[in-house]
Amino acid sequence: MNHFTNIKDISYKNLRKILDDAKKRKFKRKNLETLEIDKDKPLKGNLLIQMFEKSSLRTRLSFYLAIRQLGGSALTLRPDELHLSRGAESVSDTAKILSTYGNIFMLRTDDEKKIKSFSKFLSIPLINGLSPESHPAQILSDIFTIEEITKRRVSKLNICWIGDSNNVLNSLIEASIKFSFNLNIGCPKNYNPSKEILNYIKNNIGKVKIFNKANEAIKNADVVLTDKVISMNDKVDKKKKIKDFLKFKLNSKLMSLSKDAFLLHCLPRGNEVTDEVFYGKNSKVWQQALNRVHVQKSILLFCLNKLR
Ligand code: CP
Ligand code: NVA
Repeated sequence: MNHFTNIKDISYKNLRKILDDAKKRKFKRKNLETLEIDKDKPLKGNLLIQMFEKSSLRTRLSFYLAIRQLGGSALTLRPDELHLSRGAESVSDTAKILSTYGNIFMLRTDDEKKIKSFSKFLSIPLINGLSPESHPAQILSDIFTIEEITKRRVSKLNICWIGDSNNVLNSLIEASIKFSFNLNIGCPKNYNPSKEILNYIKNNIGKVKIFNKANEAIKNADVVLTDKVISMNDKVDKKKKIKDFLKFKLNSKLMSLSKDAFLLHCLPRGNEVTDEVFYGKNSKVWQQALNRVHVQKSILLFCLNKLR
């Protein structure tokens, strides 16, 4: 079995295998309805247990559809229903029980340590459905969307991130190193990625560049990604942070400095992008959201060693 907790812990070969499988599966079920099961039913009889300690719309629905389309079922736990949330049961005992009843566990958490401890104590695979430091399923799916739209390998493209140095960006940086693509980051000076991430960039031969001016970062971009300035549970002076990012708001003028780039946004959105850009012809955010289902199916199969 394999955990899927960070892009950096998975080999390029396996990441590519997941994308290839997703492409084939998506194509094969072109004429099937949402809940119709893939013909080969590869996860028949399997139970995905998912738990969200933070809000979610897309991740919750897309993992549900993913396991159902593979022939399995999903059970969504509310953390407040578990003894764990009151400190009345340990992570290790909870993990044992999850491993006894289920086949795979997906966790969205505000506590990075929980990802580490669950991955240690579970004897079934763990998927990180967003943590303070990463959002790997989102980014792998975004790589899929980028290649689907451009019909080119991501390694041949200039990717640009305009926005906060958050969990989504961390996973994008890891992807840039794994897939070897140019990544320009545009963010205000006081909002650069953490020292740990900067060291990771330095220690791996990558193509990541950080600009503190949006117009410099976006130059020559084929794809522009962004995310909310204020992430869930971001403990900052919100008014100040939004003000600090004003020059990084994606408007038509800023987008026009790119190579006619298309926009991706993991959603939900805040005020980091104008309506004109968000609902404009170069916005691919809805296609991006739906692709989560397809890529996560192949992530589930990877986790259970069932990738063809
Ligand atoms: N992009 C994303 O993870 O959305 P949700 O928070 O709605 O799951
Ligand atoms: N950076 C955002 C992503 C939401 C999908 C957050 O953590 O809230």
